[in-house]
Amino acid sequence: MCGIIGYIGKKEIVPLLITGLKRMEYRGYDSAGLTVLNNDSKVLTRKKKGRVADLEQLINSEKIHSNIGIAHTRWATHGFPNDVNAHPHNDSQEKISIVHNGIIENYAVIKKKLLSEGFEFRSETDTEVLCLLIERFYLKVNDLELAVRLALNEVKGTFGLAIVSTYDPDKIIAARRGSPLILGVGDNEYFVASDASALIEHTKNVVYLDDDEMAILSPDGYITKTISNVQTNNEVKTLEFDLEQIEKGGFEHFMLKEIYEQTQTITDGFRGRLLIDEGNVKLGGLRTVKEDFRNAKRIIISACGTSYNAALVGEYLIEQLAQIPVEVEYASEFRYRSPVLFDDDIVIVISQSGETADTLAAVQEAKQRGIKVIGLVNVVGSSIARQTDAGIYVHAGPEIGVASTKAFTSQLTILTLLALYLGRMRNISSEEGLKIARELSAIPEKIKQILNIAPEIEKIAKTYSYSRNYLYLGRGFNYPVALEGALKLKEISYIHAEGYPAAEMKHGPIALIDENMPVVFIAPKDEIYEKIVSNIEEVKARKGKVIVVTNIGNNELDRLADHIIKIPETLPILTPILSVVPLQLMAYYTAKELNRDIDKPRNLAKSVTVE
Ligand code: M6R
Repeated sequence: MCGIIGYIGKKEIVPLLITGLKRMEYRGYDSAGLTVLNNDSKVLTRKKKGRVADLEQLINSEKIHSNIGIAHTRWATHGFPNDVNAHPHNDSQEKISIVHNGIIENYAVIKKKLLSEGFEFRSETDTEVLCLLIERFYLKVNDLELAVRLALNEVKGTFGLAIVSTYDPDKIIAARRGSPLILGVGDNEYFVASDASALIEHTKNVVYLDDDEMAILSPDGYITKTISNVQTNNEVKTLEFDLEQIEKGGFEHFMLKEIYEQTQTITDGFRGRLLIDEGNVKLGGLRTVKEDFRNAKRIIISACGTSYNAALVGEYLIEQLAQIPVEVEYASEFRYRSPVLFDDDIVIVISQSGETADTLAAVQEAKQRGIKVIGLVNVVGSSIARQTDAGIYVHAGPEIGVASTKAFTSQLTILTLLALYLGRMRNISSEEGLKIARELSAIPEKIKQILNIAPEIEKIAKTYSYSRNYLYLGRGFNYPVALEGALKLKEISYIHAEGYPAAEMKHGPIALIDENMPVVFIAPKDEIYEKIVSNIEEVKARKGKVIVVTNIGNNELDRLADHIIKIPETLPILTPILSVVPLQLMAYYTAKELNRDIDKPRNLAKSVTVE
């Protein structure tokens, strides 16, 4: 979603801002822009609909020199994606310039008031309303920082923002409420960004701003304070990833790189946590909530998108291994429907980015109701990671492709660890624990075997890339994998796809099946295998095109399937970590064949920071 980068120091600002914007392209956006201060009485702003490269082209013809500025990639919420609505937005006299992530919910009321006072608007955005509100206060109090604070006290909604102004030309003012913002602390240079990837090549020393906090950056240093003007003292933390990890490393797309990284990221997830020889698990992040888990009568897992699909696997895992009832709920629904919660419930939220607005709101809802909230988060230091009571980092490393792949399999790995941890705490024998631990540690090697058959999967993907619809069917642990396979395909290829529990097919979707419908079955040899074979027969009888994912050594389906993808065997509870990999590759190669923008699919954002 929207991205912010700001800089104050000695370096030439334009290339620095442009590179920063490029690093955040993966978040999804539709326009880009920047403002610099260059000793003029007005701010200098350039913005453009389209890619950062279009903005770069626009300003390359000019000789702009400065060492203070702010820049933004916009993902439209209020108003069309066009040049005018792109950020930054300036006040009426072109002296104050602002970039903003989030939504000003009461913008209409404020706009009406400002219009009645004679202010004029150029754009349809909520951000311009905030900018003119700051101008209004500035004209009264003649103090930029105070004007910003007064304006922020009037707005409702969410913001991560950065402001520069010719009224106070040696400062960047930044503030946050509900939208992430990080300060980068360099050598006599300071950064503000919404995403660590925008500043990692300049500094690893960062300060995370909290909600209702602001920062004033100058060439001599920075201060942080609350929006109500009480000084704060945030610790400087060190980023744990480097530039290499957010570059493509020879792969054509980030998505493909991330699919291949799964052999490593899964190991990173269980390393130091899985006690293979004891058949047990050590989770330091849960130390403070161990007793809560011991006494829990129910677990509710809440998440969105791919993380929600992982949560469904988590439900099956925890119920099977620990016998604790689990409910899974979309974070957006959990938040608004006043769920019935009991004191001995535990809420687990899962999020790659740790910034998804709905999931964050679910955290806040549960915490307000006095329930312990545990986070399974990938991005270290993210809002969800910091607001939950305890948690387990997923350790998948930076995921840049909008379509989540390695984060999903890492989430499954962590959920397996959690289920085993709870199971051993309650009812699983050490023999059973040993079996699961050994199998989990063998998963990365098995993923390598699947990656070796990528060319076969590519061929199948190409054969059906003309299809308008796809069906994905699985049962038990592989039902959520069917959902995930369909989600992957639709988000990057724009082909309509549905995931269903295979047995549900006969209650409706079977009507769709004809010779043009590819149906992907996830059918490993497990206890419900025979049932899914019947479902395959039903599709075949209606001339559907059958693509089956089953185990190496199972040749029984060769006669039924039009195409067969064979993956190594593992325990049924671990199958999803393997069976999803061919589906990720299917989606990737389909989108590639259709020439789609794989890493930045249309309309999507990497982290959805609006409701
Ligand atoms: O960062 P999160 O895991 O909270 O994100 C949740 C969804 O927005 C995300 O999984 C989305 O569905 C992905 N694009 C799926 O590939």
